Amino acid sequence: MSNKVTKAELSEFKKNKDTVKEFSNGEVTVYWKSDLCIHSANCLIRLPEVFNSKKKPWVNIHAANSKDIMKAVDTCPSRALTYLKSTKFVTSKPRATVKMKSKFARVHILKNGPALITGNFIVRDADKKKIQIENEVAAICRCGASKKKPFCDGSHQRIGFTD
Ligand code: SF4
Ligand code: FES
Repeated sequence: MSNKVTKAELSEFKKNKDTVKEFSNGEVTVYWKSDLCIHSANCLIRLPEVFNSKKKPWVNIHAANSKDIMKAVDTCPSRALTYLKSTKFVTSKPRATVKMKSKFARVHILKNGPALITGNFIVRDADKKKIQIENEVAAICRCGASKKKPFCDGSHQRIGFTD
């Protein structure tokens, strides 16, 4: 899965600047949206020299080359991490980033973690009220411990959920 940032995500980042952090080495910009992180640790495992939750800031964008960083960001299942190759990428090729919206929803049950939904879907609460989803992916809690249900907040790691 490619985690290249989409136009929709970029415009949402611009509107809600305080919900996203960005790290740039001039060649690639990595966006970090903490509320989407499901603590799968893929990024930490894939490129620990760049992604290290014990350090501040936790992303050291200068510790690896851009290609390896993009590959590591691509392993993030929730799109908490996305990247932009360079500003030209967006301004000179706007159409290349527009994707047709998928007709279907895909549900991927993550081992010991949430159910990831991508594609064309809506989420409703118990009263059938539509829950606004700002991104193209939703991580639904399976462990029961999340404090922001129905979404996963990473608590499955804290409680050692296995399934
Ligand atoms: S969800 Fe993404 S950002 Fe969060 S730990 Fe996993 S790979 Fe890293
Ligand atoms: S599955 Fe992640 S908090 Fe429950």
